[in-house]
Amino acid sequence: MTIFTPTAPDFVPSAAAAATQPTLALRGVSKVFGEGANQVTALYPTDFEVRPGELVAVIGPSGSGKSTFLTLSGALQKPSSGSIRIAGQDIDRLSARQLTEFRLHQIGFVLQASNLIPYLNVREQLTLVPGLAGRGGRQVAALADELLAHLGLSERAGHHPHALSGGQKQRVAIARALMNDPALILADEPTAALDGKRGREVVSLLAREVRERDKAAVMVTHDERVLDLCTRVVRLEDGRIQG
Ligand SMILES: Nc1ncnc2c1ncn2[C@@H]1O[C@H](COP(=O)(O)OP(=O)(O)OP(=O)(O)O)[C@@H](O)[C@H]1O
Ligand SMILES: [Mg+2]
Repeated sequence: MTIFTPTAPDFVPSAAAAATQPTLALRGVSKVFGEGANQVTALYPTDFEVRPGELVAVIGPSGSGKSTFLTLSGALQKPSSGSIRIAGQDIDRLSARQLTEFRLHQIGFVLQASNLIPYLNVREQLTLVPGLAGRGGRQVAALADELLAHLGLSERAGHHPHALSGGQKQRVAIARALMNDPALILADEPTAALDGKRGREVVSLLAREVRERDKAAVMVTHDERVLDLCTRVVRLEDGRIQG
C-alpha cells in the first residue's frame, strides 16, 4: 500500500505486507543542522529496518545522534537526505496535514518524562486523543480498560498523575502509545526517571506488548540493564551506526 488517503483514518497495512515488509525502513537517511562553518552532522547516511515484533535498542554517548535518529524515524523532523518508509508509506509523499494524521494513527511515542496531563485521570489520558479524533464511546473505553489491565494499572484508572509512581506513569505512557493501535512505537529513554528494577519492569512490559501485538519498536536508552530484553541493540557514535 503506497497511497495514503486522509479519509481512511484506520490506515492499516495488510497482514501479508506486514509480514514481509519492515514497519520502519530508513534508506540513506542523514541529518545536518546549521549552515557553513556551524554545520553539525547529527546523522550520517544511514540504512536501518525494524520488523513487526522487534524491539530495537539504540545506545550511544551523549550527542551521538540518538534523539535525532528517533525523531527522524517518527517523522517529527525531515531528513537532509534519504527516504523513510513507515508501515509501507513513503512519508515524503505526505502533506503536512496528512503527516500529522498518519503519525497519530501509525506511531506511538513514549518519552523520557511520561508527559501525562496533570488534570486528567489515568483512563482519560488514554481516551483523550481518540476522543479528539472523533472516536469515543464504548469501544475506546473498553480498549483503554483492556490496556490498563494488561499493564497492571486497573486499580489506578481513576487516579491523577501526581498520585502515581514513576514506573506507573511510564506504564500509562506505554498504554497511551498503544491506544491507536500504531504499527510503530518510538521511545526516548523511557526508563531515565526510574530505578533499575522499575526500569526493567517497564521495558519488560513494552517488550511483551511489542511481541504480543506485533508492533515494531525503537527505544533509545542509557540503561545497559534492559538491553537483554531487546531483540537487537544498535550503537550510535558520532552520527554513525557502529558494526
Ligand atoms: N536542532 C538542532 N540544531 C543544531 N544541532 C542539533 C540540533 N539537534 C541536535 N543537534 C546536534 O546533533 C548532535 C546529535 O544530537 P542528539 O540530540 O541526536 O544526541 P543524543 O545522542 O540524543 O544525545 P543525548 O544522549 O545527550 O540525548 C549533537 O551534536 C547536537 O548538538
Ligand atoms: Mg537524546
